[in-house]
Amino acid sequence: MASPRQFRCGRIHETSMSGELKIRVLEDTDLNGVTQLDEKLGGGYRPEVWEHRITYYQRRDPEAPVVAEADGKVVGFMLGEVRSGEFGLEEPTGWIEVIGVDPDYRGQAIGRQLAEHILEHFRERGASTVRTLVDEDSEGIAGFFSALGFEPSTLRPFALKL
Ligand SMILES: CC(C)(COP(=O)(O)OP(=O)(O)OC[C@H]1O[C@@H](n2cnc3c(N)ncnc32)[C@H](O)[C@@H]1OP(=O)(O)O)[C@@H](O)C(=O)NCCC(=O)NCCS
Repeated sequence: MASPRQFRCGRIHETSMSGELKIRVLEDTDLNGVTQLDEKLGGGYRPEVWEHRITYYQRRDPEAPVVAEADGKVVGFMLGEVRSGEFGLEEPTGWIEVIGVDPDYRGQAIGRQLAEHILEHFRERGASTVRTLVDEDSEGIAGFFSALGFEPSTLRPFALKL
C-alpha cells in the first residue's frame, strides 16, 4: 500500500465549502467514500465493484488514482494509469478512465485539480500524452475535458454488439 503522496500543485485549497479541500492519492480506506459517492452519482450501491477497481489501480499504478476530500468525506475521485503497447500506441500514455465529483461540490475546480494532479503523475511516469474516452451523449464530461485542453483524437472507438 503506497503512502499518501503530496502533490506539486495546490495541496490544500480554501474554497467556498465549510472546510479545506485536500487532493491526495487514493487509499484503500477510501473504499467506503468512493462507493457512497458513486451511489450518489447514480451508480447504485456497488462496494464489491469499487473494491475490485481500487485494488486493480493500486496494484498497477498506486500513485495515480486521486481523491478530493472535503468536510470529512470523499467529494471527488479520478482513476487512471499509464500504459503502453496498446492500440498501436507504443509510447507511455496516461489514461483517465473514471471521474466523478459530488454534485454538491461541482463548479469549484475540484475536477480540474484532480486532473492536474493525475496529469502531473503521468508526466513523472514518462507519458507525453493523456487520453480518455467520452460518450458523445455526455456533453458535460466533453465540456469538462475541452476546458482542460483536451481535443478530439484520431484514435476512434469501434464497437460490435455481442
Ligand atoms: C465533469 C465533472 C467531473 C466536472 O467536475 P467539476 O469539479 O464541477 O469541474 P471543475 O469545476 O473543475 O471545472 C473545470 C472546467 O470544466 C468546465 N466544466 C465543468 N463541468 C462542465 C460541464 N458540465 N459542461 C461544460 N464545461 C464544464 C468548467 O467550466 C471549468 O472550466 P474553466 O476552468 O475554463 O472555467 C463533474 O461534473 C462530474 O463528475 N460529472 C459526472 C461524471 C461522470 O458521469 N462520470 C462517470 C463516467 S467516467
